[in-house]
Amino acid sequence: MANLDNQVAIVTGAATGIGYGISERLAYDGAKIVLVDFDKNAVAAAASSLSEKGFEAEPIVGDVAEPKTAQDAVNIALNKWNRIDILVNNAGIGGANGNIWELDVEELDRVYNTNLRGVFSFCHESIPEMLKADYGRIVNIASIAGKEGNPKMVPYSSTKAAVIGLTKSVGKELAGTGIVANCITPAVVQTRILEEFTPEVIEYMVGKIPIGRTAEVSEIAALVAWLSSSECSFSTGAVFDISGGRATY
Ligand SMILES: NC(=O)c1ccc[n+]([C@@H]2O[C@H](COP(=O)([O-])OP(=O)(O)OC[C@H]3O[C@@H](n4cnc5c(N)ncnc54)[C@H](O)[C@@H]3O)[C@@H](O)[C@H]2O)c1
Repeated sequence: MANLDNQVAIVTGAATGIGYGISERLAYDGAKIVLVDFDKNAVAAAASSLSEKGFEAEPIVGDVAEPKTAQDAVNIALNKWNRIDILVNNAGIGGANGNIWELDVEELDRVYNTNLRGVFSFCHESIPEMLKADYGRIVNIASIAGKEGNPKMVPYSSTKAAVIGLTKSVGKELAGTGIVANCITPAVVQTRILEEFTPEVIEYMVGKIPIGRTAEVSEIAALVAWLSSSECSFSTGAVFDISGGRATY
């Protein structure tokens, strides 16, 4: 268990799946959570669920692709709790499956808007506040697809590779401050995002996992909790593997 008492976290894509699991874990470890999602009903339900468990949580409805959503999240965190310690850029979409010659360029734009533009905006808005306090922990949720490049997943794989690149740059920009920025590269986790993929693509991804199963949301959340804590102090711009052995780098 990480000690996050009195800390404030912004988690994007927090209504369901990995984002909700991360929010619940960070709350359990002591943090107050701003939950960001464009699914209005689901994010309200997620915040209520955390409140019912005795945690402090505030929902924000918005598309991470719009910079205003990041501004709103930062404002809520500051107005309500006067600090931002943790940013977890989790919101992501899978996009259509197909060979590059079968996909429209607009599909790349759509996936890019959530998977990369959103990460940029939330870092852009949160880091100045973290710098004022000279403390912060940023965790970006990339993917094994960003390291390996899955076939029929160019928009997803390339934008997740870009999240890895963004994390490496931001980690170096902040090195020497009290802020560290890292990313994780999960393999397959059983969540709603898999509904976007064809059975053929899912079979390919699961078949590549030496441990022979998909990851539990709680396993992802546990790694993110440590990366969100002050105990993670000598890693920045780093890529943490959580792929059941698929990547050995
Ligand atoms: N599930 C996997 O196998 C897997 C593997 C590797 C990485 N990831 C990454 O983990 C992250 C979470 O994925 P998940 O599996 O929990 O997916 P999910 O589809 O279950 O949840 C994603 C959440 O993000 C929200 N969201 C999507 N686009 C948004 C936007 N533009 N603005 C605001 N909210 C938005 C959705 O409403 C949803 O609540 C994603 O970045 C995904 O790429 C997932």
